[in-house]
Amino acid sequence: MSFDPDGFIQEQVKELKEAVGGGTAINALSGGVDSAVCTALGHRALGERLRTFFVDSALMREGEPERVASVFKRMGIQVEVVDARNEFLGALKGVTDPEEKRHAVTDTFYRHVFSRLVRETGARFLIHGTILTDIEETVAGIKRQHNILSQLGIDPEREYGYRVLEPLKTLRKDGVRAVAAAVGLPDEIARRIPFPGPALAARIVGEVTEEGLRTVRAATAIVEEELSDTGAFQYLAVLLNDRATGVREGRREFGRIIVVRCIESLDAREATVTRISWDKLERICRRVVEIPGVNRCLYDLTPKPPATVEYI
Ligand code: XMP
Repeated sequence: MSFDPDGFIQEQVKELKEAVGGGTAINALSGGVDSAVCTALGHRALGERLRTFFVDSALMREGEPERVASVFKRMGIQVEVVDARNEFLGALKGVTDPEEKRHAVTDTFYRHVFSRLVRETGARFLIHGTILTDIEETVAGIKRQHNILSQLGIDPEREYGYRVLEPLKTLRKDGVRAVAAAVGLPDEIARRIPFPGPALAARIVGEVTEEGLRTVRAATAIVEEELSDTGAFQYLAVLLNDRATGVREGRREFGRIIVVRCIESLDAREATVTRISWDKLERICRRVVEIPGVNRCLYDLTPKPPATVEYI
């Protein structure tokens, strides 16, 4: 049977109404399609009784808060920006292990930021954009997606004082995009490439520092601008932990290395690498090595498996 986005919307709106009753809920928008669809469904179900927040974690892409707020303003949905930059940077300080980094981001979101928002707003519910692939990869032990709690044996009500509602947990990315279009989200959101919950913290191998974030944010902006016309499933820039010798203006430099990745996939479970023209690759490389401190730019040719999409 083919998927019916309108039927799905009706069903989820009804379930959200029943679950929240006369109470209030909160949700966080990241700018990605999953949290955007949750916001649209939640507002349909609850109207003003859903408070939507954009958490500025210091880990977001360039211009993200303004972009997200303006898209939803056009839809009549108010987005409140919460400054939690110091909390996230503090929690990530000195952390280098990939899963510990995810844990630091998860814990800061759920235990600190959301718990505070729940206390301040009196909400008892958090609407979250977990999708089926997140659950499967977490259960399989491949990767701990940052938005999975019950699958990890965490009871959010007991641990944090609120219930988590996950209206998208039966869908994969293609289903979420179909719902996004059906619920009236603009193409720039409905077709947005996937971006991980831990955001740019997932794009730095090793410790997340402000300098590393500046570097990978600049590279991400270049890669997204240059590769948006490929129509690829996902494209990204990663800052490696290694350094490489280079030479700039006649002087030796021990610089940073950026990897560019661009993949074709249906739902990120398997991926092949996009064939990009040499001209385009050279232009990306030229721009990336203009970022201060970066002197190498590599294009990754590895499919998934054996690689994963991200580097951590
Ligand atoms: P991997 O690296 O596991 O990525 O091949 C598969 C898809 O999941 C995204 N991804 C994440 N999304 N939290 C998320 O919300 C995470 O911790 C996370 N890790 C990977 C990745 O961008 C790709 O689309």
